[in-house]
Order: sequence, then structure tokens, then C-alpha cells
Amino acid sequence: MNSHRLHLMDHPLIQHKISMLRKKDTDTKDFRQLVQEISLLIGYEATRDLDLADCEVETPLMKTRGRVLVKQVCLAPILRAGLGMVDAMLNLIPAARVGHIGLYRDPKTFQPVEYYCKLPPDVAERVVIVLDPMLATGGSAAAAIGFLKKRGVRRIKLLNLIGVPAGVECVQKEHPDVDIYLGALDERLNDHAYILPGLGDAGDRLFGTL
Ligand code: PRP
Ligand code: URA
Repeated sequence: MNSHRLHLMDHPLIQHKISMLRKKDTDTKDFRQLVQEISLLIGYEATRDLDLADCEVETPLMKTRGRVLVKQVCLAPILRAGLGMVDAMLNLIPAARVGHIGLYRDPKTFQPVEYYCKLPPDVAERVVIVLDPMLATGGSAAAAIGFLKKRGVRRIKLLNLIGVPAGVECVQKEHPDVDIYLGALDERLNDHAYILPGLGDAGDRLFGTL
């Protein structure tokens, strides 16, 4: 695992909220709320290097120079569970576009299967932030990043709440140019490619489909 582009977000607030998220008796409402709160904290750091442009601002007292974000971001949630992270990121960057990437893991092979992909027409000119709570084998994230690259996207970041070394390595092997922002790095995968200790099935817990 290459630590160069891996940003492990060990802020105390993130560690606390991830512990609450893991608890098996955290209900759907609290789970959703926590996913949003953690996404916002990780998103704050992941947007640190966005480009700014100079602008003029008139305060009630005088004119001054300011800096504003260039409209440049596309959020790309991987369906379904990535949807739980979108609202928090839109609170941070309200002008962002949102492209949806529909993938599910085949339960036998654990390989990602694509079923939907709708991206904004100018996606290639944007910084794309891929959103998914879980980085398990890394197959879904690597495939999503592959779609984006085929569409000409050059600046891609990956935001996950929980990952394992195998998932990080898979993404880094296929996409060494992508920064990965992770709330927690767990131990390993079980025989069904679920993260241990993890939090179970993120999509099911978010949408109450357990
Ligand atoms: C989960 C998760 C990721 C993927 C991670 O989605 O949200 O997309 O698995 O696993 P990987 O790193 O091994 O590819 P899932 O396939 O369960 O679909 P869902 O979000 O619709 O429940
Ligand atoms: N997908 C999940 O939702 N949880 C895991 O632990 C692995 C993949």
C-alpha cells in the first residue's frame, strides 16, 4: 500500500462518529445522519486543493479583493450507498454537478456489474469526487474511476468512510494518480468480501433494506 496518495482521516470527530456508525443497533435514521456528518468532515479535507479565482467584493465599508471557487466539481456517487454522501458534499459545494454511477457487486464473483451511468456533459473539465462509503475489494471504485477516465476526466478523488488495505491496493494499482480519502482503515475482508470489523452492508443500513 502506497501512503503517498492515501489520506487517512483520523480526526477525533471522525473516529467517534465511525464508532457510532459501526454499532449494529444504530438505526437507519442515525446511520444516515452519521454518514452525512462523516462525509462532510472528510469532504472538507478532500476539497483543500480546489482552484480559486480572484474576485472583487464590496463590503458595507469598502471594496476589497477576495477568492472564490471556480465552478469545477462533479460529485460521482456509486449507487446505491454513495447516495448517502451526496447531500453533505452539496452542502460544502452547492454548485457541484452530480453524476451517478450504478454498480453492484456480483454476490458470487464479487466483481462489479454496471447498470447505470449518467455524467454531466462537461465532466472531463471537472474535478470528480467519487463517493462510496465502503472500499472492500476495490473493484467497484476502480471500475467507476475507469468509466470516468474513459470520459476524459483527469482529476479524480475517491472518498470512502471505511476501507481495507486490499481495496486501497486495488485502486492504487489501477489508478496510481487518484487521491484516496478514508475515514478508517480496517483489518481485512471476510469470505464474502465484507469488511471486518466494518459496519455490515452500507446500502442496506442506509436505506433500511436489511
Ligand atoms: C457496496 C459498496 C460499494 C461496494 C464495495 O455496494 O457500497 O459500492 O459494495 O465493494 P468492492 O470494493 O468489493 O467493490 P453493493 O454492491 O453492496 O451495492 P449497493 O450499494 O447497491 O448495496
Ligand atoms: N459493501 C458493504 O456494504 N459492506 C462491506 O463490508 C463490503 C462491501
